Amino acid sequence: MFKRFRDRRKDPATRLKFQETFLSREDFILPLFIVSGRKRKEAIVSLKNISRMSIDYTIEYIKKLQEKGLRSILLFGVPDKKGIEQAYDEEGIIQTAIREIKQSLQNIEIITDVCLCSYTEDGHCHIGENDATCEILAKIALSHAKAGADVVAPSDMMDGRVYYIRKTLNEHGFVHIPILSYSAKYASNFYGPFREIAKSTPKYGDRKTYQLNYANVEEAMEEIEADIDEGATMIMIKPALSYLDIIHRAKERFTVPIYAYNVSGEYAAINFLVENHLAKEEIVYEVLLSIKRAGASKIVTYFTPWILEELDEYQSL
Ligand code: PBG
Repeated sequence: MFKRFRDRRKDPATRLKFQETFLSREDFILPLFIVSGRKRKEAIVSLKNISRMSIDYTIEYIKKLQEKGLRSILLFGVPDKKGIEQAYDEEGIIQTAIREIKQSLQNIEIITDVCLCSYTEDGHCHIGENDATCEILAKIALSHAKAGADVVAPSDMMDGRVYYIRKTLNEHGFVHIPILSYSAKYASNFYGPFREIAKSTPKYGDRKTYQLNYANVEEAMEEIEADIDEGATMIMIKPALSYLDIIHRAKERFTVPIYAYNVSGEYAAINFLVENHLAKEEIVYEVLLSIKRAGASKIVTYFTPWILEELDEYQSL
């Protein structure tokens, strides 16, 4: 006797019947890069279909994608000139964007990136000293909450920043604003295109003194645990594809929602395969499904517009 697995695979309808993991439109979060002014749209070669846009264009773009089922966005501010005060300025790019988006659109969740790397002269995520940086990060998060952000997402990897942010938000009455903490953000080589679009390439050195060593699992678990203790509501693992084991272990160990960031280098590498006819477009569905299968409940990805458009193609008959 032997099992007939092929009976489960014989045609699309049967394969779908036995499929264990599915994607849904609610799983996806679109990163957006915002610049000041009006009618600005700046593309970069390495991030296909992704541009830095001014708020007016961003709103038009979100509106179009909402018709396809977009529910959630992650905002990054890209100032024309460096200077950290802009990061927490009430009239800053992100603060203005949050207000304008909330005024113009309904049913869109705004998550904001809380970090300094697009604002510091040297492109690092800190100002030299850990705790002093945390105080600034808390100010940034507060300014986002005041402007109307639904979720704040610190991505800097300073120690204790969730503690500082939670405390500051609570003191100002924002007890209910969740913190999505990038707990396990690795010092990865997959961030290249992002740094180009966010203008956040470090001028010297690298981020290895604050981002996680990619050889480590247990340390990531400790970081996650610490962030949850400090008040993180959800946690992020980043990047996604070389880190599916981390997603999986976090899912087994913790009860908070696990988010995964399918980063810019992963996006560019997969697009390269497709553009050069080395893989069918279906590879995108495969990759996104793998991240979900590993245990992510939400996926931040530049493929969000693609999946919103194509999902039914792969999941229905
Ligand atoms: C840093 C930050 C990074 C990304 C988002 N915020 C990484 C880095 O530059 O170290 C990368 C996202 C991507 O590659 O898509 N605050």
